[in-house]
Amino acid sequence: MYFSGTYFHNFRNLYPERREWSPGFNLITGPNGSGKTNFLEGLNILSGWGPLEKKAKISNLVKWNSESSSLWGMACGEERSEMFASLRARCQLKSGGKAIGAAEMRGHVPVLSFLPGHMSLLKGGASYRRYLLDMVGALMSVSYAKILRDYRVVLRQKSAMLRRGRDARAADRLLSSLGSWLWTARDEILKMIYTETENFRNLLPAPMDFFFVRGGGGLDEKASDDFRKSLAGARDKEIASRMPLVGPQRDDIKFMCGGIEASCALSRGQSRRAVSAIVLASSLVVERRLGRKPVLIFDEITSELDESGRTSSVEALVGTGCQVFATTTDPMASDGVEIHKMRDGRFL
Ligand SMILES: Nc1ncnc2c1ncn2[C@@H]1O[C@H](COP(=O)(O)OP(=O)(O)OP(=O)(O)O)[C@@H](O)[C@H]1O
Ligand SMILES: [Mg+2]
Repeated sequence: MYFSGTYFHNFRNLYPERREWSPGFNLITGPNGSGKTNFLEGLNILSGWGPLEKKAKISNLVKWNSESSSLWGMACGEERSEMFASLRARCQLKSGGKAIGAAEMRGHVPVLSFLPGHMSLLKGGASYRRYLLDMVGALMSVSYAKILRDYRVVLRQKSAMLRRGRDARAADRLLSSLGSWLWTARDEILKMIYTETENFRNLLPAPMDFFFVRGGGGLDEKASDDFRKSLAGARDKEIASRMPLVGPQRDDIKFMCGGIEASCALSRGQSRRAVSAIVLASSLVVERRLGRKPVLIFDEITSELDESGRTSSVEALVGTGCQVFATTTDPMASDGVEIHKMRDGRFL
């Protein structure tokens, strides 16, 4: 499935206009502040992933001095389906005229989106690495998103109990079963991404190894036993620090390059190339599981890349055959790329 057309009304600074899209690579270019990221955000919301900044208030996305926004998209593939999001204080999603939840919407057009922050997967904080696993996991199975949501609910309850100095053991049983499921699922997802990264070796400056690191775990190979033992071992520390110290909320991935942590071994541009390889590998993982190509969204695709890095990243993206929406401030032409220029919230 891919987006063949969109119409966004009263969304951020975007001018309301119907736009047709290539099923291949769409490169959105324009000066700073022209609305490139805003357009990607509209697509992200329409595909069930919400605002690009997870904590953003929905009402702030509505065009200033307006009451509400609406986003419309036509998804094409084996069948055609209209997708719709209306934004006021909350976001409501509809497909084919029927109200649906975000998880169901994500299943219509699987979208993987990467912001400049996510591109610092190797050098940034662990939350970016968990985000990658969660995005791939949620697209691959509805259970993943559901278990992650349930885990977070129980974790919030445990955190509140610990903050008040109360005994939090009641939450631990449920956390163990949900958390160890997530540990196993995340480990498997990372192994699949690792295997597919082989297909994009030319983007890697050197061969890389990936390791999944269980948050606060490591006492047993079997995830459920590890969770239980690690929780028991960390109980006093959790009480003293008044926060949960074991579980997926602290998971990480170690990326190694020639035996050295990739965050040290690679320059910023090299690590962006490596991230492109990991992202492309992730899209293959999703495609193999769903039997459909995901749509890829990249903000600021060319930043920090030299000429050869840009060319090989764009060529690799075009080669996936996925629909791509990418933004850049540098106008660049390349085979298989359709350029859409923007200025002051409108496409030219
Ligand atoms: N709710 C809103 N209503 C109207 N305009 C808004 C709203 N929210 C943000 N803007 C405007 O949108 C513009 C930013 O758009 P956006 O971030 O998409 O630009 P960009 O093209 O991605 O720029 P850059 O190249 O710097 O990343 C800003 O000028 C901001 O004032
Ligand atoms: Mg931007």
